[in-house]
Amino acid sequence: MRDIEKVAETFRTARGFGSSALYSRLLAVVAEDEALLHLAARTRHGQQPTFALFGAVHHLLLGGVPDPLAAYYPSVVGDSARPVDEETGPAFARFCAAYAGQIASLLGTRLVQTNHVQRAVVPRLGLALLRRTTPGPVCVVEVGCSAGLNLRADRYAFTVGGASYGDRTSPVHIGVEVPEADLLPDLDQLPEIADAVGIDLAPPDLTDEEDRAWLRALVWPENRHQAAQLRAAMDVVAADPPRILAGNAIEIGPEAAATLPPGLPRLVVHTATRIHVPAEERPAFDAAVAAFGTDGPMLHLALEDDQRVAPSGRPGYGLTATDATGRRTIAVADGHLAWLEPLPAINDPR
Ligand SMILES: C[S@@+](CC[C@H](N)C(=O)[O-])C[C@H]1O[C@@H](n2cnc3c(N)ncnc32)[C@H](O)[C@@H]1O
Repeated sequence: MRDIEKVAETFRTARGFGSSALYSRLLAVVAEDEALLHLAARTRHGQQPTFALFGAVHHLLLGGVPDPLAAYYPSVVGDSARPVDEETGPAFARFCAAYAGQIASLLGTRLVQTNHVQRAVVPRLGLALLRRTTPGPVCVVEVGCSAGLNLRADRYAFTVGGASYGDRTSPVHIGVEVPEADLLPDLDQLPEIADAVGIDLAPPDLTDEEDRAWLRALVWPENRHQAAQLRAAMDVVAADPPRILAGNAIEIGPEAAATLPPGLPRLVVHTATRIHVPAEERPAFDAAVAAFGTDGPMLHLALEDDQRVAPSGRPGYGLTATDATGRRTIAVADGHLAWLEPLPAINDPR
């Protein structure tokens, strides 16, 4: 059981929920409700209780649990969803009290594994950056890959800053608003990929309906475009899954690195992963990631909890690039990659 005051603080200070009016309201509701905080405290160590509690409730509602709370979820009732009002908080609290056992069981067994396909633009960008110095072959590693959807960045259609890239025939379309797109490399100029591998604590199985349903529940109720994108990507990746190793990157990182062809350049990516690693384990996590550079030149891209203001003035997160010459912030992006603002450092000569 976690310290309740720390859990309350997590709900009080959570950022990035702006695209969900429902969750924005519920953050404030949970932060002030002792019983809800005790329930949220059942979240597994290191996991963010905000995403976990909201995901568990959403999972039950999507699974058909009949309750008045469902009326607030566009994912369940569609366009007729009730706007957030003074009854939303009490309805959520009543639902959590009624289904506390099932919610606690989900919190105790599931991880926050939101596999946001939109973030596939990060590995694609990394590959295009690597292509400037090598035609390939290269290796791609994603640490905290969930179901591995973003390891298939070569299978999707992209519109980035108004220009089209990728597999235009793909059922998965990713659109990213980029105001200064001329700073970006050509996202169609990619090196040959010799090997792609993901690492995850508990990779969801895309052939398992329960695992797919959990990934769906982690998408916020209003984000129906994201839900459709997820479904399409799950089908693409289930038909041709990437190589994924199950385990803690801190423990199996060296073993995973040893499976890469020695000497080949490697792109190592993690997005929305380090934030779910317990704080005291983050130095070991960073060391495990850095160790991928032992047997070959590495470009390491990370989009994590590095809060930054974009050149346009909007708040986002720093996308960092680390290689043999050091670490620099190359863009500021929305956590869900709805937009990305490249910084001049993206074109620093390397
Ligand atoms: C929020 S999801 C993000 C998934 C994906 N990177 C994306 O952006 O769509 C975080 C993932 O990291 C995994 N994870 C967290 N800590 C990990 C660790 N120490 N080693 C390996 N995977 C980890 C979780 O299991 C989860 O699937």
